[in-house]
Amino acid sequence: MPTSATGVPLLIVENLGKSFTLHLQGGLSLPVVSAVSFAVHAGECVALGGPSGAGKSSILKMVYGNYRIDAGSVQVADAGAMAEIAGAEPRLMLRLRRARIGYVSQFLRVIPRVPALDVVAAPLRAEGVAADAARARASALLARLNLPERLWGLPPATFSGGEQQRVNVARGFIGSQPLLLLDEPTASLDAANRAVVIDLIAEKKAQGCGLLGIFHDGETREAVADRVVDVTRFSA
Ligand SMILES: Nc1ncnc2c1ncn2[C@@H]1O[C@H](COP(=O)(O)OP(=O)(O)OP(=O)(O)O)[C@@H](O)[C@H]1O
Ligand SMILES: [Mg+2]
Repeated sequence: MPTSATGVPLLIVENLGKSFTLHLQGGLSLPVVSAVSFAVHAGECVALGGPSGAGKSSILKMVYGNYRIDAGSVQVADAGAMAEIAGAEPRLMLRLRRARIGYVSQFLRVIPRVPALDVVAAPLRAEGVAADAARARASALLARLNLPERLWGLPPATFSGGEQQRVNVARGFIGSQPLLLLDEPTASLDAANRAVVIDLIAEKKAQGCGLLGIFHDGETREAVADRVVDVTRFSA
């Protein structure tokens, strides 16, 4: 397994397997991936590659605890030890998300009536940062991502795709979790904002975070990824 300069493993995936049971098709089992094995180390960005439907997002969702792990093991660095995500209790999973694993999903899950600024500040509030300080940092990040200030006080439900994606990126990058999962974080962004996200990823790497991402856009992948794990190797 190649190691980065800093080398501390933040994520170890071993023999991970997933199949979906299609209840509407008489319980038909649809295997997606099997024997997925790779690691992410501090200071590196690993890209998951492979065609549409290969299982890239499913792997991210298993690491984040959104999809159940059918086989194998997913371990995340947790205060000097490795925590197992397969079969983790909901309480452990919530703590790991708050402290260890950040996630930028492909689409923002809109929370009704919560203004964009508070959506972005929420992970810091969960870490115990005071409201004013959390909002100040959220403002700075939204400004960097060129989200017009008139939108900060509004709930993102009616925002454009690119505006929602920038809120989602800001929410994912504001926290101090050492492992960050990114599912096509630049898909709806123009070139200028894509460049901001590329800078944000570089800053996380410099801070010693590890990133696991899906980047359809080849230029972005070139700019951020230290190596690519081709998911078709693990197709079930
Ligand atoms: N919740 C689910 N129930 C049933 N099948 C699912 C579910 N989630 C994913 N799949 C199936 O698993 C396969 C892999 O999906 P996944 O979203 O992981 O692919 P992907 O590599 O991220 O593709 P894309 O590049 O299009 O985003 C697909 O065939 C998809 O239909
Ligand atoms: Mg996907």
